[in-house]
Amino acid sequence: MVAAWVGDHRDELFPTERPAVARAVEKRIREFATGRHLARRAFDMLGLPRAAIPSGQAREPLWPKGCIGSITHSEALAIAAVAASGTLRGIGIDLEVVERVTPALYTRLMTPRECGLLQDADSRMPGLLFSAKEAGYKAVNPLVGTFIGFQEAEVYVDWPGSRFTLRYTGEHEPNQIMQQGEGFFCFFERYVFTLFIIR
Ligand SMILES: CC(C)(COP(=O)(O)OP(=O)(O)OC[C@H]1O[C@@H](n2cnc3c(N)ncnc32)[C@H](O)[C@@H]1OP(=O)(O)O)[C@@H](O)C(=O)NCCC(=O)NCCS
Repeated sequence: MVAAWVGDHRDELFPTERPAVARAVEKRIREFATGRHLARRAFDMLGLPRAAIPSGQAREPLWPKGCIGSITHSEALAIAAVAASGTLRGIGIDLEVVERVTPALYTRLMTPRECGLLQDADSRMPGLLFSAKEAGYKAVNPLVGTFIGFQEAEVYVDWPGSRFTLRYTGEHEPNQIMQQGEGFFCFFERYVFTLFIIR
């Protein structure tokens, strides 16, 4: 896993990566290119060649043969995680600014059970629930290929253990693979970071 401040890495983009940001604004080009830059640094660490990572139809990164991974960026910070194929089936990471998950978003992003949990919870819980779902989606979507709504997954948090699990409550059975995953979280500065892996 490699993290860095978002910088100007657009010159490093491969031709097959450029269409994803062909019409993008400056901020988006910088975060996209930094994600690719970090993923290739992770390739170096794993002894993998510096290959292209184009984007798929659901915006998912298309990882080169030999690895899987996940990318996240929030404001000035970006993180890429890469694992050699065969070590994990799925991986998703997500970074959010905790305070961005405001009460106006609760009923859209959380189930009634999760909204109930918030009453006596740590003020960072809404950000954690949101980030956990996004990390879970990023791990599962490349495996199954269907969209998962925020009301179709529930987060179960082990706060002292800094871990979570996800329960898929929707109707598309293959997405139940989400239940086999393990989630991990940490808070730093204004951020929550989540990692979800399916072994
Ligand atoms: C795709 C999504 C999760 C991205 O999260 P985000 O907070 O907007 O942005 P982040 O910076 O954390 O992540 C963006 C990166 O996620 C990755 N990503 C995008 N779509 C993806 C997908 N379908 N599968 C896996 N990874 C994906 C990409 O690498 C992207 O960066 P890039 O375009 O520069 O390569 C979010 O926009 C989304 O569509 N969510 C709805 C689905 C969902 O989360 N459901 C929860 C219930 S389980």
